[in-house]
Amino acid sequence: MKFHVLTWGCQMNDHDTEKMSGLLVSSGFSPADGIEEADIVLLNTCSIREKAVHKVFSELGRLKEIKANRANKMIVGVTGCLAQQEKEKIFKRAPYVDLIMGTAAIRQLPKLLADAVSGVGRVIDTDFYKDNHLFPPEIILRGHTAKALVTITEGCDHACTYCVVPTTRGEERHRPAADILAEVRHLVERGFCEVELLGQNVNSYQGGCTFAELLFKVAEIDGLEWIRFMTSHPMNFTQELAHAIVTIPKVAPFLHLPIQSGSDKILRRMGRGYTSQEYLERIGYLGDRRDKMCISTDFIIGFPGETDEDFEATMSVLEKVRFDASFSFIYSPRPDTSALRLSDDLPESVKHERLTRLQTRQTELTFQSHRREVGNIVPVRIESQGPTELGHWLARTAQWRNVHLETKEKRQLPFGRLVDARITGAGPHWLKAEIV
Ligand code: SAH
Ligand code: SF4
Ligand code: F3S
Repeated sequence: MKFHVLTWGCQMNDHDTEKMSGLLVSSGFSPADGIEEADIVLLNTCSIREKAVHKVFSELGRLKEIKANRANKMIVGVTGCLAQQEKEKIFKRAPYVDLIMGTAAIRQLPKLLADAVSGVGRVIDTDFYKDNHLFPPEIILRGHTAKALVTITEGCDHACTYCVVPTTRGEERHRPAADILAEVRHLVERGFCEVELLGQNVNSYQGGCTFAELLFKVAEIDGLEWIRFMTSHPMNFTQELAHAIVTIPKVAPFLHLPIQSGSDKILRRMGRGYTSQEYLERIGYLGDRRDKMCISTDFIIGFPGETDEDFEATMSVLEKVRFDASFSFIYSPRPDTSALRLSDDLPESVKHERLTRLQTRQTELTFQSHRREVGNIVPVRIESQGPTELGHWLARTAQWRNVHLETKEKRQLPFGRLVDARITGAGPHWLKAEIV
């Protein structure tokens, strides 16, 4: 039987799809080219904001039609954060769903599918299996990306008042450092030169050493070129970690450190555990190297109680840090979160105005940060298997900037490898470059 997985959400979900696909292949299923060819369609979902949930249910609506018109049996499964959160409620809303599997039950997938295929009726497993984070790396079916994703910790012990993740991913579980090192060595042997260490909060890592120590150990692996990580929480951002980031040459000069708001009142209501001043101090730990790095963040706009003054504090922190990039979203009330108790009476139009203002300014800052690169010669990693329709190859700088790379002589470029490129132009979303 052939399967197809649709994925929403963060890198951890992308990586879970790689794990699920690997398990299915090792159990005798094969990947389909798309939904039309698939006997099994799995939706690996995200529930961080209401919009993410809408996308899942609208896709489910489409699958309902396809399933109804199929001569053969088709299995539809919902996995990931929405499955963990809503559990059997999904069967009520979408009765044509055959399988529901939570985020910590991934290793049960072959058994669940075998049950669903044999027609025992609907199957569901949303238990928290203790060993879920100890996934055998050789089974993972990696996507065609130049960067390999590696889970180091899963779950979140923070309790931000707006966030579903502590519910959908459970308590923090850490992989032993030796396991992580063995996986990275195995990846390098397979030809990967770049890894991204994943966790809801990597800097609270406790798998036998601190996260900073883990970075030093991973960096010792010969053949590995760049190490990335996602995501860091400002509360656990220590001087020790900043020191590791700036002193280990293999650690890519890129830091995603979500601030959420510049207002201390709002940060307190969000339960973030730092003030905007403390956030700035932590960025300061990076010292002079900050100028060579790309720093990105997340903002939530229109959190309950956000006044004009609070929003101005967010705009002011944007100017102070001059983020190279940011991801900003309007606050979305989520089930089972404590922020639901806060009254949310700000008009939608005001939230949208604020979001537009912040995003417009961010686009200018990103554009400026890109323009500063023009004329530089930097190593970039080839990220596409061939040129796009527009004729350029896709590549990334160490700072994770998007590069459109021209090759004059139309030669083949080595996927996943580094080449030296001269930055020749900049836009708000990309750099233009040519091979030197
Ligand atoms: N663990 C990371 C964030 C994971 S969620 C951290 O703490 O920094 C990714 C981003 O989604 C968050 O940084 C936040 O900006 C956004 N987000 C989470 N819940 C949200 C909600 N209810 N409404 C709007 N944005 C939300
Ligand atoms: Fe959510 Fe906060 Fe945990 Fe990040 S740290 S995953 S925002 S609860
Ligand atoms: Fe979404 Fe779950 Fe990731 S809610 S952002 S897929 S941890």
